[in-house]
Amino acid sequence: MLTVAVLISGTGSNLRALLEAARHPDFPARVVVVGADREADGLAHAEEFGIPSFTVPWHEHESREAWGEELGRQLAVWNADLVVLSGLMRLLPAALVADLAPRLINTHPAYLPEFPGAHGVRDALAAGVSETGASVIVVDDGVDTGPILAQERVPVIAGDTEHSLHERIKPVERRLLIDVVRRIATGELSLTSAS
Ligand code: GAR
Repeated sequence: MLTVAVLISGTGSNLRALLEAARHPDFPARVVVVGADREADGLAHAEEFGIPSFTVPWHEHESREAWGEELGRQLAVWNADLVVLSGLMRLLPAALVADLAPRLINTHPAYLPEFPGAHGVRDALAAGVSETGASVIVVDDGVDTGPILAQERVPVIAGDTEHSLHERIKPVERRLLIDVVRRIATGELSLTSAS
Protein backbone atom coordinates (compact mmCIF):
# COMPACT_ATOMS: atom_id res chain seq x y z
CA MET A 1 0.00 0.00 0.00
CA LEU A 2 1.47 3.33 -1.10
CA THR A 3 1.29 6.01 1.61
CA VAL A 4 0.65 9.57 0.46
CA ALA A 5 1.06 13.00 2.07
CA VAL A 6 -0.91 15.82 0.40
CA LEU A 7 -0.03 19.52 0.69
CA ILE A 8 -2.66 22.20 -0.01
CA SER A 9 -3.30 25.94 0.27
CA GLY A 10 -6.94 26.27 -0.78
CA THR A 11 -10.29 24.56 -0.97
CA GLY A 12 -8.77 21.11 -1.42
CA SER A 13 -11.29 19.83 -3.97
CA ASN A 14 -8.61 17.71 -5.63
CA LEU A 15 -7.52 16.43 -2.21
CA ARG A 16 -11.12 15.46 -1.50
CA ALA A 17 -11.33 13.50 -4.74
CA LEU A 18 -8.17 11.61 -3.80
CA LEU A 19 -9.52 10.93 -0.30
CA GLU A 20 -12.72 9.56 -1.84
CA ALA A 21 -10.79 7.35 -4.26
CA ALA A 22 -8.47 6.10 -1.52
CA ARG A 23 -11.46 5.11 0.65
CA HIS A 24 -12.22 2.35 -1.85
CA PRO A 25 -10.74 -0.93 -0.58
CA ASP A 26 -9.28 -1.76 -4.01
CA PHE A 27 -7.40 1.54 -4.34
CA PRO A 28 -3.69 0.79 -3.78
CA ALA A 29 -2.81 4.04 -1.93
CA ARG A 30 -3.84 5.74 1.32
CA VAL A 31 -3.56 9.39 2.31
CA VAL A 32 -1.79 9.38 5.69
CA VAL A 33 -1.51 13.13 6.33
CA VAL A 34 -2.54 16.50 4.89
CA GLY A 35 -0.41 19.60 5.34
CA ALA A 36 -1.00 23.26 4.54
CA ASP A 37 0.85 26.57 4.53
CA ARG A 38 -2.14 28.35 6.12
CA GLU A 39 -5.48 27.58 7.75
CA ALA A 40 -6.74 26.31 4.41
CA ASP A 41 -10.44 25.49 3.97
CA GLY A 42 -9.41 22.14 2.51
CA LEU A 43 -8.13 20.93 5.90
CA ALA A 44 -11.79 20.30 6.73
CA HIS A 45 -11.77 17.41 4.23
CA ALA A 46 -8.93 15.76 6.15
CA GLU A 47 -10.87 16.12 9.39
CA GLU A 48 -14.02 14.70 7.82
CA PHE A 49 -12.10 11.65 6.57
CA GLY A 50 -10.29 11.20 9.89
CA ILE A 51 -6.88 11.96 8.38
CA PRO A 52 -4.31 13.80 10.55
CA SER A 53 -3.26 17.24 9.38
CA PHE A 54 -0.72 19.92 10.16
CA THR A 55 -0.17 23.55 9.23
CA VAL A 56 3.19 25.22 8.74
CA PRO A 57 2.18 28.88 8.41
CA TRP A 58 4.19 30.64 5.73
CA HIS A 59 3.98 34.01 7.46
CA GLU A 60 5.43 32.71 10.71
CA HIS A 61 8.78 31.94 9.08
CA GLU A 62 11.48 34.40 8.21
CA SER A 63 12.46 32.77 4.91
CA ARG A 64 11.38 30.16 2.38
CA GLU A 65 14.22 27.99 3.63
CA ALA A 66 13.10 28.18 7.28
CA TRP A 67 9.52 27.39 6.27
CA GLY A 68 10.70 24.50 4.12
CA GLU A 69 12.80 23.07 6.95
CA GLU A 70 9.78 22.97 9.25
CA LEU A 71 7.61 21.50 6.48
CA GLY A 72 10.26 18.83 5.92
CA ARG A 73 10.33 18.03 9.65
CA GLN A 74 6.54 17.62 9.71
CA LEU A 75 6.56 15.43 6.60
CA ALA A 76 9.38 13.29 8.00
CA VAL A 77 7.13 12.25 10.90
CA TRP A 78 4.86 10.50 8.39
CA ASN A 79 7.58 9.24 6.05
CA ALA A 80 5.07 8.91 3.19
CA ASP A 81 6.06 7.09 0.02
CA LEU A 82 4.73 9.97 -2.09
CA VAL A 83 4.11 13.69 -1.50
CA VAL A 84 1.42 15.34 -3.64
CA LEU A 85 1.28 19.12 -4.08
CA SER A 86 -2.43 19.61 -4.70
CA GLY A 87 -2.90 23.35 -4.91
CA LEU A 88 0.01 24.27 -2.62
CA MET A 89 0.57 27.85 -3.80
CA ARG A 90 4.15 28.20 -2.52
CA LEU A 91 7.37 27.11 -4.15
CA LEU A 92 9.23 24.60 -2.04
CA PRO A 93 12.86 25.50 -1.31
CA ALA A 94 15.41 23.59 -3.41
CA ALA A 95 16.71 21.69 -0.37
CA LEU A 96 13.29 20.19 0.37
CA VAL A 97 12.69 19.33 -3.29
CA ALA A 98 16.08 17.57 -3.35
CA ASP A 99 15.20 15.74 -0.14
CA LEU A 100 11.81 14.50 -1.40
CA ALA A 101 12.75 13.86 -5.05
CA PRO A 102 11.64 11.96 -7.02
CA ARG A 103 8.66 11.03 -4.85
CA LEU A 104 7.16 14.53 -5.14
CA ILE A 105 4.42 15.33 -7.69
CA ASN A 106 2.30 18.38 -8.50
CA THR A 107 -1.01 19.02 -10.23
CA HIS A 108 -1.25 22.06 -12.47
CA PRO A 109 -4.27 23.62 -14.23
CA ALA A 110 -2.67 24.02 -17.68
CA TYR A 111 -1.14 21.90 -20.40
CA LEU A 112 2.53 22.21 -19.40
CA PRO A 113 4.94 23.48 -20.54
CA GLU A 114 2.27 26.04 -21.48
CA PHE A 115 1.31 28.50 -18.73
CA PRO A 116 3.42 27.45 -15.73
CA GLY A 117 3.29 29.30 -12.41
CA ALA A 118 0.66 30.50 -9.98
CA HIS A 119 -1.85 31.76 -12.57
CA GLY A 120 -2.05 28.97 -15.13
CA VAL A 121 -5.76 29.47 -15.82
CA ARG A 122 -5.65 33.28 -15.93
CA ASP A 123 -2.61 33.26 -18.21
CA ALA A 124 -4.26 30.85 -20.66
CA LEU A 125 -7.36 33.07 -20.85
CA ALA A 126 -5.23 36.19 -21.31
CA ALA A 127 -3.34 34.52 -24.16
CA GLY A 128 -6.63 33.87 -25.96
CA VAL A 129 -5.94 30.18 -26.63
CA SER A 130 -8.78 27.91 -27.72
CA GLU A 131 -7.67 25.07 -25.47
CA THR A 132 -5.65 24.68 -22.33
CA GLY A 133 -5.53 21.65 -20.04
CA ALA A 134 -4.40 19.92 -16.89
CA SER A 135 -1.09 18.27 -16.02
CA VAL A 136 0.45 16.10 -13.32
CA ILE A 137 4.22 16.38 -13.13
CA VAL A 138 7.21 15.34 -11.06
CA VAL A 139 8.48 18.38 -9.14
CA ASP A 140 12.00 19.51 -9.91
CA ASP A 141 13.76 22.71 -8.86
CA GLY A 142 12.12 24.81 -11.60
CA VAL A 143 8.60 26.25 -11.68
CA ASP A 144 6.39 23.52 -13.19
CA THR A 145 9.28 22.24 -15.33
CA GLY A 146 9.49 18.63 -14.13
CA PRO A 147 8.78 15.50 -16.17
CA ILE A 148 5.13 15.22 -17.23
CA LEU A 149 3.35 12.12 -15.91
CA ALA A 150 -0.10 12.78 -17.38
CA GLN A 151 -1.92 15.58 -19.12
CA GLU A 152 -5.12 16.25 -21.01
CA ARG A 153 -6.56 19.08 -23.06
CA VAL A 154 -9.56 21.13 -21.91
CA PRO A 155 -11.30 23.50 -24.36
CA VAL A 156 -11.72 27.20 -23.60
CA ILE A 157 -15.35 28.18 -24.25
CA ALA A 158 -16.48 31.66 -25.40
CA GLY A 159 -17.41 33.71 -22.35
CA ASP A 160 -15.25 31.64 -19.99
CA THR A 161 -14.09 33.41 -16.85
CA GLU A 162 -11.06 32.33 -14.84
CA HIS A 163 -13.48 30.67 -12.42
CA SER A 164 -15.61 28.84 -15.00
CA LEU A 165 -12.56 27.59 -16.89
CA HIS A 166 -10.81 26.48 -13.68
CA GLU A 167 -13.95 24.64 -12.55
CA ARG A 168 -13.95 22.76 -15.88
CA ILE A 169 -10.24 21.93 -15.57
CA LYS A 170 -10.43 20.64 -11.99
CA PRO A 171 -12.43 17.45 -12.71
CA VAL A 172 -9.84 16.56 -15.36
CA GLU A 173 -7.01 17.24 -12.89
CA ARG A 174 -8.73 15.02 -10.32
CA ARG A 175 -9.06 12.14 -12.74
CA LEU A 176 -5.42 12.48 -13.84
CA LEU A 177 -4.15 12.75 -10.25
CA ILE A 178 -6.06 9.70 -9.04
CA ASP A 179 -4.87 7.69 -12.03
CA VAL A 180 -1.23 8.76 -11.57
CA VAL A 181 -1.29 7.89 -7.85
CA ARG A 182 -2.85 4.52 -8.68
CA ARG A 183 -0.24 3.79 -11.36
CA ILE A 184 2.63 4.80 -9.05
CA ALA A 185 1.19 2.53 -6.36
CA THR A 186 0.92 -0.47 -8.67
CA GLY A 187 4.40 0.12 -10.08
CA GLU A 188 2.99 0.77 -13.56
CA LEU A 189 4.55 4.23 -13.39
CA SER A 190 8.09 4.69 -12.12
CA LEU A 191 9.08 8.10 -10.77
CA THR A 192 12.75 7.13 -10.91
CA SER A 193 12.65 6.63 -14.65
CA ALA A 194 10.38 9.69 -15.19
CA SER A 195 12.83 12.08 -13.54
C1 GAR B 1 -5.80 23.21 -8.61
O1 GAR B 1 -6.35 23.54 -9.86
C2 GAR B 1 -4.30 23.07 -8.72
O2 GAR B 1 -3.86 22.54 -9.90
C3 GAR B 1 -3.87 24.51 -8.63
O3 GAR B 1 -4.66 25.01 -7.58
C4 GAR B 1 -5.94 24.37 -7.63
C5 GAR B 1 -6.29 23.90 -6.25
O4 GAR B 1 -7.64 23.56 -6.18
N1 GAR B 1 -2.47 24.61 -8.40
C6 GAR B 1 -1.70 25.51 -8.99
O5 GAR B 1 -2.13 26.37 -9.72
C7 GAR B 1 -0.24 25.40 -8.65
N2 GAR B 1 0.54 26.17 -9.57
P1 GAR B 1 -8.26 22.83 -4.93
O6 GAR B 1 -7.69 23.49 -3.68
O7 GAR B 1 -9.74 23.01 -5.04
O8 GAR B 1 -7.86 21.38 -5.02
